[in-house]
Amino acid sequence: MKLAVIKGDGIGPEVIDVALSVLNQVLPGVETTEFDLGAQRYHRTGDLLTDEDLDAIRRHDAILLGAIGDPSVTPGILERGLLLKMRFALDHHVNLRPSKLFPGVTSPLAGNPDIDFVVVREGTEGPYTGNGGAIRVGTPHEIATEVSVNTRFGVERVVRDAFARAQSRRKHLTLIHKTNVLTFAGSMWKRAVDDVAVEFPDVTVAYNHIDAATIYMVTDPGRYDVIVTDNLFGDIITDIAGAVSGGIGLAASGNIDATGTNPSMFEPVHGSAPDIAGQGKADPTAAILSVVLLLRHLGHDAEADRIDQAVSADLASRGDTPVTTAEIGTRIRVALG
Ligand code: IPM
Ligand code: MN
Repeated sequence: MKLAVIKGDGIGPEVIDVALSVLNQVLPGVETTEFDLGAQRYHRTGDLLTDEDLDAIRRHDAILLGAIGDPSVTPGILERGLLLKMRFALDHHVNLRPSKLFPGVTSPLAGNPDIDFVVVREGTEGPYTGNGGAIRVGTPHEIATEVSVNTRFGVERVVRDAFARAQSRRKHLTLIHKTNVLTFAGSMWKRAVDDVAVEFPDVTVAYNHIDAATIYMVTDPGRYDVIVTDNLFGDIITDIAGAVSGGIGLAASGNIDATGTNPSMFEPVHGSAPDIAGQGKADPTAAILSVVLLLRHLGHDAEADRIDQAVSADLASRGDTPVTTAEIGTRIRVALG
C-alpha cells in the first residue's frame, strides 16, 4: 500500500503520528509519502496545492490527512485552496461519516441511547462549488449569491452508494433535505431516491427535513441507519452527530471516489484545534478510526476490525482522568498485542 500523508496544521501532526503507529502495528510495510501542505507551507512559499502536488498524490492508493486550518491565515484560503480543492480534484463524491456510540462512552443525550448510523454526505456539489459572486461589495446595496449546484449525475451516484451501504447494514435509508423550500434541488434529490430505490427493494426509505433532523438527532438518533444528504446539510448534521456520539474527538471520515479512479482521503472530522496544538492532549481516536475506514476501503477488513476492537477496548476502559495523545496511542498498541 502506498499512502500519501498530509499531517497539516495544529493538532494534525500529533494525531497522525499516533494513527500511523497504529497502522504500522497491524499492517507493517505501508509505504508512506509525506506531503508538506497547510499553513506553514503557505506562509513559506505561497503555495496551497500545486498541480505537481496533485499529480504526486494521485500516485498513491489512499491519503491520510490530519487537519487543515490556522488562525494566521484568512478563513477560506486554506479551506478552499487546499481541502476543498483536493476533494473536488480527486472527485471525492462520497463523504462518509459514521457515528457510533462505543460502549463506555457517555453521550450528552439522556439515557445513553444506541447510536449507530452512517451519514453519506455528497462531497463535490451543493453550495460548496464556489458558484456565486458579490456586487456592490461594502455598500448598503451589496448583493451576494452562493448557488447550490446539484446535478442528476452527482446526486444519483451518491444516492446509489448510500443505498448499497444501507443494504449491507440495517437496510434503512433516510434522505435529509429541505424539499419544502429548496423545491428545485429537493425535488431532484427526492426523485433520485425514489428511482434508485427500485434497485434496492429490501431497503426501506424515510425522509426528514434538515431542521426536523436536527431535533431527531438529539431526541431519537436510533431511528437512523444510513442518511444521505447534500454537502452543506451533511456538514452540519455530522457535527451534531459527532457531539451526540462521544464528541468530535471520536468522529472519523472518508472522502471517497467510489469509482476508484482517484485515491480516497481519510481524515478526522475535527479541525486543527490551534488552542490545544502542541500540548499532547488531542485525542487521536478520530484519526485512528479514519485509518479503520481507510483499511476497509482498501479491503483490509481483518486489520480494520482489529483496530476497531482495540479502540473499543481503550474507550471502554478510560476513566475520568484525562489521557494524553501518546498514552492513548500506547494503550491501543498494547490492546493490539
Ligand atoms: C468538514 C469541514 C470542512 C467542510 C471545511 C473546513 C471546509 O467543516 O470537513 O466538515 O465544510 O467540509
Ligand atoms: Mn464540518
